[in-house]
Amino acid sequence: MAGARREKSSQSSILGSRIAVAIGIGIVAGCIFAFVFPNGFFSANPPPQSRLLSKSNLEVESVSCESSEKLNLLKSDNMRLSDKNVKLKKQVRELNEKLRLAEQRKDHAREPFIVSSEPQKAGPFGTVKGLRTNPIVVPDETVNPRLAKILAKIAVNKELIVAVANSNVKEMLEVWYTSIKKVGISNYLVVALDDAIVDLCKSNDVPVYQRDPDEAIDSVGKTGGNHAVSALKFRILREFLQLGYGVLLSDVDIVYLQNPFEHLYRDSDVESMSDGHNNMTAYGFNDVFDEPAMGWARYAHTMRIWVYNSGFFYIRPTIPSIELLDRIAGRLAREDAWDQAVFNEELFYPSHPGYVGLHAAKRTMDIYLFMNSKVLFKTVRKDANLKKLKPVIVHVNYHPDKLPRMKAVFEFYVNGKQDALEPFPNGSDWK
Ligand SMILES: *[C@@H]1O[C@H](CO)[C@@H](O)[C@H](O)[C@H]1NC(C)=O
Ligand SMILES: *[C@@H]1O[C@H](CO)[C@@H](O)[C@H](O)[C@H]1NC(C)=O
Repeated sequence: MAGARREKSSQSSILGSRIAVAIGIGIVAGCIFAFVFPNGFFSANPPPQSRLLSKSNLEVESVSCESSEKLNLLKSDNMRLSDKNVKLKKQVRELNEKLRLAEQRKDHAREPFIVSSEPQKAGPFGTVKGLRTNPIVVPDETVNPRLAKILAKIAVNKELIVAVANSNVKEMLEVWYTSIKKVGISNYLVVALDDAIVDLCKSNDVPVYQRDPDEAIDSVGKTGGNHAVSALKFRILREFLQLGYGVLLSDVDIVYLQNPFEHLYRDSDVESMSDGHNNMTAYGFNDVFDEPAMGWARYAHTMRIWVYNSGFFYIRPTIPSIELLDRIAGRLAREDAWDQAVFNEELFYPSHPGYVGLHAAKRTMDIYLFMNSKVLFKTVRKDANLKKLKPVIVHVNYHPDKLPRMKAVFEFYVNGKQDALEPFPNGSDWK
């Protein structure tokens, strides 16, 4: 810059000095430009100004007009580019905002299926929903690699029906898997407790699994009666859940008429069929207990619900589910108790002094879709409208003559034999 000024002061004529002023302005601007953009707009092309400054004064004068034009062009380029930059920045901001909103909506859609450890603000009245659906466990194949392989082949959407069977229930098992095949269900597995069941399944193309020998458990499995085998299933189920599978546990005194996986909600740790025989008993009611001696306070309100049936329930692979299995198996090992009673006590009792409740999420299945044999034989078969409904399953849990009733259910619903259910009494004959 100092050199440029000296150049200007050396001019003498008026005209010359005017030209010199114009040239000088060009040069000054050029120098400013060179100073502000020492590497030019594109560092690959060295800016003309830097070459210019290193050459003789004459050359400086001849190119300086050109450079001021270039300068103007570059200036407007610069303005255009910075305009563009502002616009792009705005677009990025808008896209980021859109992404954030999309993520939020995605989280919202999944809300019932995640547990947020973040403290949350409660939303407006009527919009607040507690969590029922606990996250599933991380599958651990090391607990049973052989079973993991079998399940990977059989399960559909990481779910399957599981039945535990020994030779005592062979004939019912045959009706059981015949109905399952008829519906077209492929994701089911029989856990065989003895070799005869393994053979039966293999010769009928029924997926079967026999556990590795475990003396403490196996002696019960081979010789045990109904309740003993029932207790076993809670121990066996644990591995299925640890491997990350949702299990529809099924007794074998059940006839399948539709695919149950199309009728599950999957929003609770345990989704179970009920022993209830109408809406009230199955879904819960306020049972008023009357004690006249209390006078004004003679009526005491109690909460009641008919028990869940531990012979048919869907259990998600969650920590509360596995804790439930452990609690039941633990109690059945220590006490001489009925597994269905223990199953319900662990599911329903709240925490109280000396006891910590499980607080698992539970759902009662629809009693006309997942039907017990009391509902069928006492109500449905005599009701013209209910008779038209096709249940998903029928569980012959209320009647000791299981096999003939199972066959009658199959005849009625599958083969359309309208009078198949008629010969049977409401209940069992023995009093
Ligand atoms: C039983 O409950 C179902 C489902 O909530 C309902 O559609 C039906 O009307 C109820 N039946 C009676 C008899 O209350
Ligand atoms: C069977 O149940 C129906 C309806 O609940 C009742 O009307 C009928 O009397 C019962 N039959 C017998 C033999 O108890």
